[in-house]
Amino acid sequence: MSTRKKIIAGNWKMYKTPRESLEFLNAFLPKVHDHERDEIIIFPTATSLSTVIDRVRGTHLRAGAQTMHWLNEGPYTGQTSPNMLTSIGATHVLLGHSERRLYANETYEHVNLKIKAAIAHDLIPVLCLGELLVDRQGGFTRDIIMAQMGAALSNIPTENAKQIVIAYEPVWAIGTGSTASPEIANEVHSIIRSQLEWVFNAEIANNTRILYGGSVKPENSAALLTQPDIDGLLVGGASLDPACFAKIVHTK
Ligand code: G3P
Repeated sequence: MSTRKKIIAGNWKMYKTPRESLEFLNAFLPKVHDHERDEIIIFPTATSLSTVIDRVRGTHLRAGAQTMHWLNEGPYTGQTSPNMLTSIGATHVLLGHSERRLYANETYEHVNLKIKAAIAHDLIPVLCLGELLVDRQGGFTRDIIMAQMGAALSNIPTENAKQIVIAYEPVWAIGTGSTASPEIANEVHSIIRSQLEWVFNAEIANNTRILYGGSVKPENSAALLTQPDIDGLLVGGASLDPACFAKIVHTK
């Protein structure tokens, strides 16, 4: 059993107004107030982030953004900068989520710049990796994951790498109900961990938390979390309901 502290994170995507976010937290916090075994992170929408940060202040929960730009200011309509996030108390930021790559044309070259900016601003970057179904069916999962890591982690000093969290989210499992089997997920996590050792060193590889995301539910969370290289979960739909997400947090 690894000694890495697990992370249970909820990616709310484009759901929950500030009022709905408060309603969620008022129901959720009492259910997890004594749960300090794992790190619990909420990634709300940009318009709810301040509300969530203010509500969880003083608790063991943390909150982060679902994306950000790599510059601190400029003519970038609709963007949010690293210092804007830290100025309201955000601690984490999701980077490279497949839905950003799909709908916002984000590349891993962009993600690389964002990881460097996150580290420079003491934000914890959660780097999302994952293959398409066609990649898996063609036997290219390893190649895709290694290429994504190569681009995303390019020229990042080893001393900074310890701040990075990674999430493996097979695109074919996101929002589909088709969760990767624990064995398939752990196999890719092992590939990611081996690549971390090659890119950085054994200490970074051993200490980096690698989360699984993709149709996580209370019914499958235990089987996933017992895998040796799965250090937590990045939950989408099932994190929107306080009772359901609390069940996942309390997975034995
Ligand atoms: O970032 C997590 C998300 O992509 C997974 O979504 O709904 O399949 O749990 P879901």
